[in-house]
Amino acid sequence: MNETIVIKTSEYFKKKGIILPKISELCNPHSIKESIVKKLNKVDKNAVDPLNLFRVHWFNNRDHNDFSKIPEHIILPSEFTGVEAKIIVNIGRLFPLITAHKVLAAYGCLLPRILDGDFDYSKHKAVWPSTGNYCRGGVAISRILGLKSVAILPEGMSKERFDWLEKWVDDPKDIIKTPGTESNVKEIYDACNELKKDEKNDIINQFSEYYNYAIHRAVTGPSLEKTFLEVKKDSNLKPRFYVSASGSSGTLAAGDYLKDSLGTLTAVVEALECPTLLKNGYGEHNIQGIGDKHVPLIHNVMNTDFVVDISDKATDNLNLVFNTKIGKEYLIKKLGLESSLVNKLPEFGFSSIANILASIKLAKYMNLGKEDAIITVATDGADLYLSELEKTKNNFQGTFDESACSHIYKKYLKEIDIDNMIELSQSDKERIFNLGYYTWVEQQGISLVDFEKRKDQKFWLDHYNHMISLDDQVEKFNAI
Ligand SMILES: Cc1ncc(COP(=O)(O)O)c(C=O)c1O
Repeated sequence: MNETIVIKTSEYFKKKGIILPKISELCNPHSIKESIVKKLNKVDKNAVDPLNLFRVHWFNNRDHNDFSKIPEHIILPSEFTGVEAKIIVNIGRLFPLITAHKVLAAYGCLLPRILDGDFDYSKHKAVWPSTGNYCRGGVAISRILGLKSVAILPEGMSKERFDWLEKWVDDPKDIIKTPGTESNVKEIYDACNELKKDEKNDIINQFSEYYNYAIHRAVTGPSLEKTFLEVKKDSNLKPRFYVSASGSSGTLAAGDYLKDSLGTLTAVVEALECPTLLKNGYGEHNIQGIGDKHVPLIHNVMNTDFVVDISDKATDNLNLVFNTKIGKEYLIKKLGLESSLVNKLPEFGFSSIANILASIKLAKYMNLGKEDAIITVATDGADLYLSELEKTKNNFQGTFDESACSHIYKKYLKEIDIDNMIELSQSDKERIFNLGYYTWVEQQGISLVDFEKRKDQKFWLDHYNHMISLDDQVEKFNAI
């Protein structure tokens, strides 16, 4: 630990009125001091105000005043999903600043650097490589803490992400666009390796940063557990799966917590057009935020039970039905779905729809009934993809009308097949684990020993335990 820098940073933060939230407070925001909550309720959820750190958790309600008893969620009815199992979707777009839960990963990765004095605000720039949401989260957290930062993302990501970044960075040069789209992560790494040559750049790489794993196991896991227990109440509802699409695999780490606490199996979701985990495949796709043509270092592969692939044709087209007048009318008037449900569908971005479809596939594959529950997340909402609607409409064969909506809904949701998924055997897990060798050992210089120790579950547990032990350090830091 560099104590001089810790003291210097804490004095800098004190002048700005910054208090850092503890991990336990993010797990249970009802433990945040009343004096802080009172002030927070007067602050806009997107304001450049350090108090918004106390909203970086799953318990924001839709009005962003006070906190919900349990995370906001939507239970999808079987009339919508076509399966009896209860699919519980926890809503990520209620996180502050970026309307996506990736701001939590950014805080989790920066916090230890501040507590240990590894990040010197007077010298370092925080560099946030991602396909869009994590780098926005990183830029937002850096800005409210008064730290310099850089976002790196592929040039083909949605316009909404770039519009947001342009408003939040100090200098347009702090947005670095790399060639390609969603799955061009190698190009992001190349940009990082270039920036790394300047020691002032602190690369906070979500794909290899174990704190990204640990914050989700420590905060997202227990938060989703609370939702499930409340939904279950006195019923016989059984928690069967945790389903999460993987970009960096951070969110997936909640599955390790839920497996220990509730006994769920963990299913990872990827794009069928880039089936890296399913069949060592590659390719371009439009499920923005996931499926980056490699196995992230922080993916606990040996504790993952299923891989489920979803086509971006399904997510693009359903996004169109969920977010157009024609589509909504079809769902309400023709299908007879409650308008209260249909009006909430815009809370699902592309990867959220993929998670829902994967949950339906698992329910079909496992023959789950009405006493079975699947827990999943909606990382962000459709508001980040409005510019994609026209593109999908243009790609659409024929006219986009009621019969087109019916075709899309039946083909991609109601009658979705159990193809393109795999229940992982020991040798399947080893195949996926081994695939990571080429990225991490051959390409990115991780030692073989450090790569292989990821097979041991104790390795992952230690990271989780370390994360929850940071509370003492946060208290000391805030009290300097
Ligand atoms: C919209 C969206 N969905 C899913 C993910 C995947 O989350 P994770 O990186 O934690 O695996 C991301 C990551 O950036 C994302 O932006």
